[in-house]
Amino acid sequence: MALSLTVNGELHSLDIEGDTPLLWVLRDELGLKGTKFGCGAGLCGACTVHLNGQPVRSCSTWAEAAVGGEVTTIEGLAEDGKLHALQNAWIAEGVPQCGYCQSGQIMSAAHLLATNPAPARDDVVAAMTGNLCRCGTYSRIIAAVESVVESSSVENSSVDSSLAYDAAVVREIS
Ligand code: FES
Ligand code: FES
Repeated sequence: MALSLTVNGELHSLDIEGDTPLLWVLRDELGLKGTKFGCGAGLCGACTVHLNGQPVRSCSTWAEAAVGGEVTTIEGLAEDGKLHALQNAWIAEGVPQCGYCQSGQIMSAAHLLATNPAPARDDVVAAMTGNLCRCGTYSRIIAAVESVVESSSVENSSVDSSLAYDAAVVREIS
């Protein structure tokens, strides 16, 4: 059966059954190995990708559910060769241990920040609850997400304070 899927902005024509798990398509047909198989039952979050901007468990999502939609995997998160802010934060905070769960963790965090750029700690914890990590990196995951939130609020406030500074200078010299 021929199915067309758009993954990371690229349209692929594939000879697969509609009830093939999306995870199999990503890994075995398209070679996108960043998305991982964990439980295979929708429970651990290791296989999380975005479908039309929503996080889904690709082990439990049929390929046919993605026809006509946009799938984004960890490989598609960077833009114009620049890592996503979360990917940089993951590196800076040294989040991964074995690393196996981390692409799913980042995809869930990316959805959180896309929908709520200034989440409180409880929001972060709630958003990440469905992603399990056998290495117990939870505290570093939260620190990494919060560092992105903090740096974007510093960026916003530094724009404001530079405007305030400019206004003060204008007052001073006029
Ligand atoms: S592998 Fe999909 S949720 Fe665990
Ligand atoms: S870093 Fe090992 S399972 Fe999460």
